[in-house]
Amino acid sequence: MCSSADHDPPQPRSSAHSRPGSTIFGVETVDDVRAALAEHEYLADEGLATAVFLAIRLQRPLLLEGEAGVGKTEVAKVLARWTGGELVRLQCYEGIDAAQAVYEWDYSRQLLHLRAVEAGGGEVVEDELYSEKFLVKRPLLRAIAYEHDTLGASAPPVLLVDEVDRADDEFEAFLLEILSDYTVTVPELGTFHASVPPLVVVTSNRTRDVHDALKRRCLYHWIGHPDFERELAILRVRAPEVPEALAHQVAAAVQALRELDLYKPPGVAETIDWANALAALGQTEIDEHAVGVTLGTILKYREDQERTRAQGLDRVVQSAMERSA
Ligand SMILES: Nc1ncnc2c1ncn2[C@@H]1O[C@H](COP(=O)(O)OP(=O)(O)OP(=O)(O)O)[C@@H](O)[C@H]1O
Ligand SMILES: [Mg+2]
Repeated sequence: MCSSADHDPPQPRSSAHSRPGSTIFGVETVDDVRAALAEHEYLADEGLATAVFLAIRLQRPLLLEGEAGVGKTEVAKVLARWTGGELVRLQCYEGIDAAQAVYEWDYSRQLLHLRAVEAGGGEVVEDELYSEKFLVKRPLLRAIAYEHDTLGASAPPVLLVDEVDRADDEFEAFLLEILSDYTVTVPELGTFHASVPPLVVVTSNRTRDVHDALKRRCLYHWIGHPDFERELAILRVRAPEVPEALAHQVAAAVQALRELDLYKPPGVAETIDWANALAALGQTEIDEHAVGVTLGTILKYREDQERTRAQGLDRVVQSAMERSA
């Protein structure tokens, strides 16, 4: 497979899922998306809800970038829960190749088959060895060849290509080809084509820039840190057992921490952890001592902890009290 910057971005397919004006998963407006995500405990702002709506409507992959812990991966998980489609996850890493991402032949099973046939005095036809029986489908092919596996399933899978920035350039080449027309060619077998395209979510922490060719095929959305109100709402949903006053103060303190010049400002995941940690310690409100002993749940770099302590934990507490009042 090769990359090509000349391919056009994928066009909406003519299927029951893409007829102009038809509803997909009962979605007609951006608010429908927002409500459906919220029902599955994901609170999106208007920008993200619009991006998801368009990704569904236009059948385009959605590239989500943002700091760590802001809810990129969770979007795909929630989409799968909402639509009922299988979550097919591909975790990217340096050196990932087609054998791990697309498909490979099961050589040991082929060999066993070969020996068994020979032991029985038979002759092996080569085509037999390169049949689907011996094909190991990796996530990208599984998401494309979905109907081959699960006839009758109504919802397309949700393909999560997680942390694409960790993979190398060659990997983006496979991805480009697949996202261009939702097909995968296995030379020995032929071409698999997704008659119902998967919902595709690609995430990146931006440790390197994703190539323009890939970006062109995707809708793009940057997920920023939530504002105070949304983070508080997320806490209520994701950590409902945390006392109300404590949740308010935690959400406010996190806003204050993000204003410090930290190496890794806390993400939503850390906010939830922090609130849960404080609640587990029996706190109903934050105070300087409690912030000090739980700092490791919210700041994961020594330098960030030192900087925060140097600024004064009392200031974090005070600022939280003021903001949450
Ligand atoms: N908008 C949101 N609504 C509800 N929960 C959220 C939201 N954003 C983040 N979360 C919570 O934060 C957790 C972390 O999110 P997630 O793992 O998706 O972050 P990420 O951006 O993929 O982080 P990383 O870059 O470290 O992989 C989720 O499990 C979820 O509980
Ligand atoms: Mg993630």
